[in-house]
Amino acid sequence: MATDAKKKTGGLLPAEPDEARNTPIRREELAVHRKPRGQIAEQFRSLRNSVHAMNPDGASHTLVMTSALRGEGKSVATLNLALALAELPGMEVLVLDCDLHGPSIEAYLGLPRRQGLTEVLGGTLPIGAAIRQTSVQGVSIMGAGALPRNPSELIGSERMRTVLNALRQRFTYVLIDTPQAMTISDASLLGAMADGILVVVRLGETPRHYVEQTINALEGLGGNILGTCLTGAAEEDTARGSGY
Ligand SMILES: Nc1ncnc2c1ncn2[C@@H]1O[C@H](COP(=O)(O)OP(=O)(O)O)[C@@H](O)[C@H]1O
Ligand SMILES: [Mg+2]
Repeated sequence: MATDAKKKTGGLLPAEPDEARNTPIRREELAVHRKPRGQIAEQFRSLRNSVHAMNPDGASHTLVMTSALRGEGKSVATLNLALALAELPGMEVLVLDCDLHGPSIEAYLGLPRRQGLTEVLGGTLPIGAAIRQTSVQGVSIMGAGALPRNPSELIGSERMRTVLNALRQRFTYVLIDTPQAMTISDASLLGAMADGILVVVRLGETPRHYVEQTINALEGLGGNILGTCLTGAAEEDTARGSGY
C-alpha cells in the first residue's frame, strides 16, 4: 500500500499527525532551543524583539528569510527566529519551507521528508494536512514536499499567494525559508508577496557587493526589506539583527 501511495505522489507520503510533535529537537545549531541561555539564543531574541516591534498592532506577518548565497545560514536562522518568537505568549509561528531547490527544514528538525507545499500548490493536499506541530509549543512547519520540476513557476503562482494569505489567517507569524537570492528568483517572487524580508548575511564571508545586489533585486520586485540577520562569525558576533 505504501508503495502505491508513493507512486502517486512522486515519492513522499503524507505526514503522520503526531510525528513532528513527538520528535525532540536535537541539532546544536538550533541554539534558541538547545542553548537557551547562550549568546546566540539571546541574539535571536533581540532580532525577534526588533521584528515584533515593527509589528505593534500584532497583525499577522509573513516574513521572507533569504540571503545572497547558499550556506549562509538562512534555514538555521529561520528556525531560531521561529523558536524565539514562540517564546512570546500566545504566539503561533509557522516555518514554511519554500526552498523547493534544496529543502532542509525537516532535516534540521530530525524529521523525514513528507508531502507539503508542492502538493498543496498542486491541489492534491489540503493546507491543514500539510501543517505539522513540532515538539515546541507554538512552532509548526510545512515542509517543501516533493521537489517539483518547475519550482519558480509554482512559487510565483497566484495559488502561492492564496496559500500565503490562508496561512496568514492561521498564524501570528509565517517565516518563509527560501533559496539563495543571487541565482534563483524565488525569494524575490515571495518577497513581493510577503509583508517583509530579512536578509541573512554570513559575516566576513559574503562579499558586500553580493549583499547589495541581492537587496537591490529584492527591492526591485517590490520587497520590503526589514533588516539583516548576521550569522556565522565568532559566537559573540552572530545573529545580530540590524534595523533599517
Ligand atoms: N548559528 C549557527 N551555528 C552553527 N552552524 C550554523 C549556524 N547557522 C548555520 N550553520 C551551518 O551552516 C550551514 C548552512 O546553514 P543553512 O541554514 O542550511 O544555510 P542556508 O539555508 O543559507 O543554505 C549548515 O551546515 C549549518 O549547520
Ligand atoms: Mg536553506
